[in-house]
Amino acid sequence: MEGAALTRRGLLVGIGAVGGAGAMYAAMGALGLAPSEQDKQFVAPRPGDFRLRGQGAAKVVIVGAGVAGLTAAYELGKAGYDCTLLEAGERAGGRNLTLRGGDRLAELNGPAQDVRFGEGVYFNAGPGRIAPWMVTLDYCRELGIPIETFINNNAAAYVHTNGQTMRARTARADMYGYIAELLAKATNVGKLNKALTKDDQERLLEFLRRFGDLGPKLEYEGSTRRGFTKFPAIEVGAPLDAPGSLHQVLAAGTGRAITNDFGYEQATPMFQPVGGMDAIVTKLTEAVGRDRIRTGARVTRITDLQDGVEVRYEGGSVKADYCIAALPPHLLARIPHNLGAQVTTALRTPIPVAAGKIGLEYGRRWWELEDRIYGGVTETDLDITHIWYPSYGYHSERGLLVGYYNTEQDAELYGALTPEDRRRRALTQGKKIHGDKYRQNLLASVSVAWHRQQHIEGGWVRWPDFDSSFTFLQRPAGRVYFAGDWLTHLIAWQAGAMESARGVVTQLHQRVLQSV
Ligand code: ALA
Repeated sequence: MEGAALTRRGLLVGIGAVGGAGAMYAAMGALGLAPSEQDKQFVAPRPGDFRLRGQGAAKVVIVGAGVAGLTAAYELGKAGYDCTLLEAGERAGGRNLTLRGGDRLAELNGPAQDVRFGEGVYFNAGPGRIAPWMVTLDYCRELGIPIETFINNNAAAYVHTNGQTMRARTARADMYGYIAELLAKATNVGKLNKALTKDDQERLLEFLRRFGDLGPKLEYEGSTRRGFTKFPAIEVGAPLDAPGSLHQVLAAGTGRAITNDFGYEQATPMFQPVGGMDAIVTKLTEAVGRDRIRTGARVTRITDLQDGVEVRYEGGSVKADYCIAALPPHLLARIPHNLGAQVTTALRTPIPVAAGKIGLEYGRRWWELEDRIYGGVTETDLDITHIWYPSYGYHSERGLLVGYYNTEQDAELYGALTPEDRRRRALTQGKKIHGDKYRQNLLASVSVAWHRQQHIEGGWVRWPDFDSSFTFLQRPAGRVYFAGDWLTHLIAWQAGAMESARGVVTQLHQRVLQSV
């Protein structure tokens, strides 16, 4: 069976290579395969898809020039679709926002902030890291965007929980050490004894010795993995104080803080575009054509017609063959339309999640000079949640920390403060970890509360359950398609927006090709 499927796929890819996506879809139809169900590999629309048929490409109006809208326009543009993007805000990119000196960040019901960062310093206020398996990196490659490592896990960063601060390497060594000791002592007891053969017991012990760096008696007595007060050089390293007891280590509550990068989304290595995440927006915009994006165009009505779609906005209207609505569901739900009540109900189902970040620019990279922290994240149980150290500009004079990156209630709490009070609070919290230097040499700061950003109103959304509303909106309502990270299982990732856009482009293109 598998062999047969592979052969069919090989054949289709071959037909696609020669005849373009149109020929491939036609062949798939003949084979009884619906591409969206059977073959998840994305094939971008190509000019040949239309040329072969003597057919003109359709006109598409895209509402929202965030990452989903831009990706859709970019992919459709490859086949010559005539795309117009309507963007309510003054810039494209949506939550992909990089702030630099000279920028101004407005906020709903709050004061605007002037960004005063120095030359070369930037703050990724939205997305900041990309996992290598994500399609985002394919777009970086295709668009010629240089990338560099984003340090997501740094043994030298701190863990701050229950009022205690220690290096991540120390927290990990102690926790793994004691777990290994406990398990090692239990391998020949009770249920575990029954579950293991004698050989398995030996193999498990062999692993646990390594996992926990256990002593000969299978006891955890500390380890050089914890780090030193003075690292080895001509002399042996000066050790840290002995580890706390098992009770103390458990009571420190380092759990979440030392497992953050265990998941497939956060595992190391991760990447970032050189010079700021908005390179993705810049390059997509260039590829789509700046003149195709109308900014300041807030949509006031979407009407599905017999033969097309009409989208009205403040200042005009666009008539097109199809529409892709690529804006947050909670905002789309407020736009009058004739797509039916079920659409509105479905759009209201996902719940917006608050998220916030602050960029703190310092005139001295004390985290490198004094703490020897080069990139990475300090995890905390404070309301700041994380501190991110910059993964660029090492050894330069200035540098920018992310002083908080929080969500839900913590983000709401910070978002409700003035920018000055957000900074004050972030500094008070950060000082608990880094001491007085956290308040010194601060040059500038800017904070974003995504739930208070106009035309966005949320960091991302949460589906109470990926229910029928989720699948319902993955299909068009008449001639209107929906796209965004919120329609994927990659919420809060640009990859989600891109995958969703590609899905919609595939559906739309197939329909256009089949419509004549
Ligand atoms: N994608 C978001 C992050 O990496 C949630 O923090």
